[in-house]
Amino acid sequence: LAPISVATLAGMKVKGERIASLTCYDASFARLLDTAGVDLMLVGDSLGMVFQGHRTTVPVTLDHMAYHAACVSRARERALLVVDLPFLACATPERAIDAAGRLMQEGGAEVVKLEGGSPMLETVRRLTEQGVPVCAHLGLLPQSVHRIGGYRFQGRDHASAEAIRHDAIAMQEAGASLLVLECVPEALASEIALTLTIPVIGIGAGAGCDGQVLVLYDMLGLNPGRPPSFSRNFMIGQGSIADAVAAYVQGVKAREFPGRDETAY
Ligand code: KIV
Ligand code: NA
Repeated sequence: LAPISVATLAGMKVKGERIASLTCYDASFARLLDTAGVDLMLVGDSLGMVFQGHRTTVPVTLDHMAYHAACVSRARERALLVVDLPFLACATPERAIDAAGRLMQEGGAEVVKLEGGSPMLETVRRLTEQGVPVCAHLGLLPQSVHRIGGYRFQGRDHASAEAIRHDAIAMQEAGASLLVLECVPEALASEIALTLTIPVIGIGAGAGCDGQVLVLYDMLGLNPGRPPSFSRNFMIGQGSIADAVAAYVQGVKAREFPGRDETAY
């Protein structure tokens, strides 16, 4: 199968084929996810929590991201490789360009993802000008947990929903190739997905997005505490990790995942 590009994903959106994405942090899982037909692998800074044992993604450094991206990149053959820019890597457009350079040149990233709305527009423009594909990330912004004071779902009130809608359009106009919406109401996410021409990938954002993403360890039931309400343990009823990942891909493609209750609310 041919490697997947941002253009492939845009074509899938046009055809109404759902994009199945998972986070990935190492070579063995990268091989497994690729074989199972995952379209997009995200080396997310969620690795700070599920891999490194931190309470937040804030301690994750650019060195960590470049290391895990390189591990995934060596094994991956087909899925598009998206890598998170970590906390403060986008404090200035210049820093973001340097950081994106490392993630692409050392880490093998094909797209870099950054959190935030209007303050990030100039950075998105500058990266895009330099040939760096960008995935924007709106809604719940885990890197801002200390400012917000917890992991709160976003877009519930009118002003917050308006801001997310506005930022989503602005991100596309600034050149973003993809958008992740995290923990926003289904109706808002669906409307944004219909409005934008770029693919919108949701997590805890309902079934109306062009694609879905989950944290790999959550969907494998490795979350020792309470798994997020919008996730699903795909190991249940499956005999292997490979089968569980294949069931996830199939569930997303068939629009069976997320189900009605599998939302952030
Ligand atoms: O770091 C991560 O895993 C993410 C996804 C939850 C979108 O950013
Ligand atoms: Na992230």
